[in-house]
Amino acid sequence: EYKDIKMKHTKYSAVIVGSGIAGLYAAIKLHKEAKLEDGLLIVTKSQLIESNSKYAQGGMVCVMPENKLDSCTLHIEDTIKAGAGLTDAKVAAFISEKSAEVVKELQKLGVDFDRDENNKLKFTKEAAHSVNRILHAGGDATGFCIENALVKYLMSQKDIDIYEQTLAVELLKDSKNINRGLITYNYSENEYEIVETPVVILATGGIGQLYKYTTNPDITTGDGIALAYRAGAIVKDMEFVQFHPTAFALGENGTMFLISEAVRGEGAKLVDKDGHTFMEKYDKRLELAPRDVVTRAIFNEMKETNTSNVYLNATHISEEKFEKRFPTIFGTCREYNINPSKDYIPVSPSAHYFMGGIKTQVNGKTSTEGLYAIGEASCTGLHGANRLASNSILECAVTAFELVNFLKSKNLEEN
Ligand code: SIN
Repeated sequence: EYKDIKMKHTKYSAVIVGSGIAGLYAAIKLHKEAKLEDGLLIVTKSQLIESNSKYAQGGMVCVMPENKLDSCTLHIEDTIKAGAGLTDAKVAAFISEKSAEVVKELQKLGVDFDRDENNKLKFTKEAAHSVNRILHAGGDATGFCIENALVKYLMSQKDIDIYEQTLAVELLKDSKNINRGLITYNYSENEYEIVETPVVILATGGIGQLYKYTTNPDITTGDGIALAYRAGAIVKDMEFVQFHPTAFALGENGTMFLISEAVRGEGAKLVDKDGHTFMEKYDKRLELAPRDVVTRAIFNEMKETNTSNVYLNATHISEEKFEKRFPTIFGTCREYNINPSKDYIPVSPSAHYFMGGIKTQVNGKTSTEGLYAIGEASCTGLHGANRLASNSILECAVTAFELVNFLKSKNLEEN
């Protein structure tokens, strides 16, 4: 269908599609550590900084030796329980064991996780975690802080080409089913390009915008997964979509602002319009039951009371403390005249995360040679049927890390 269109033809050693945490971290590591004779290209649909990762609030799981209450065994158990037993236990173990190493690397790249007055890393809790093990940054702006640090680092490097406002529209393969590159389309210039490369890395995120209500930004349309599927790659667990229990139920359109689970981690209660709690009817872990359980409970309450939302009661947290711990959430609530330390916050469930995706190994290898997927676009098996909170940024970082190690171990130019 492109045969009549004149296209530029370029060649790169590797092309990364998507500029969330997985894509940026893979780009930085590849550029630092691998031999890239024909250079590295990042293709991104909007601006480099815009991604689903940027909106992640709560944090990133890390099993740190200094966190004496925690262990990989506990983290793996929590991940499997939250995933309804469908998690791949080997993948969970691998990712958990790598967490401290990737966090150290991210810190070296400029990511500052929040620390207490003694300069010790702070660990918070979210649903279905048996201990506090979640690192956060900027209070409730973890995704933004990591993304921003990686963008800054990347921009300080030479020789990485970046195509913004550009879509990947087709993956190219040869007759032996080996990846040969892709076709890109820059929609602001109306230009197509054939990009020849032995390594295509899809870091294109999830599918939230396929739903009427989602916490994901406009760009999260599942196109990377569709591209891979059309090119014959195997996809997996396509029925597993996670709905976050507490999206902000005030707003103008279907893209909903998130009220982080960390607010419940700090003790906030779910209540009906009369201030009555209801989670005791559904699960003994109450507000910190796994996300799918809390979402179904809220949905049921909304149906039974014929209302379009329930509320989060965080009034036990003082205004000063709330603003300091959750500056982004505080700011948005105030825009809507809600003071979280005095008023209930209206919340309802919203599509949030896709457990399924392009079937990969933990190093991003797909069923198609030369095609890799990392982050939310991939399905490593870590999340089973329901992702444990804050395991997603961890998975982005570990899959990027492992992919680069794999590519280094194989001569990139050999493909
Ligand atoms: C949240 O902050 O509630 C979201 C964290 C996540 O999706 O892992």
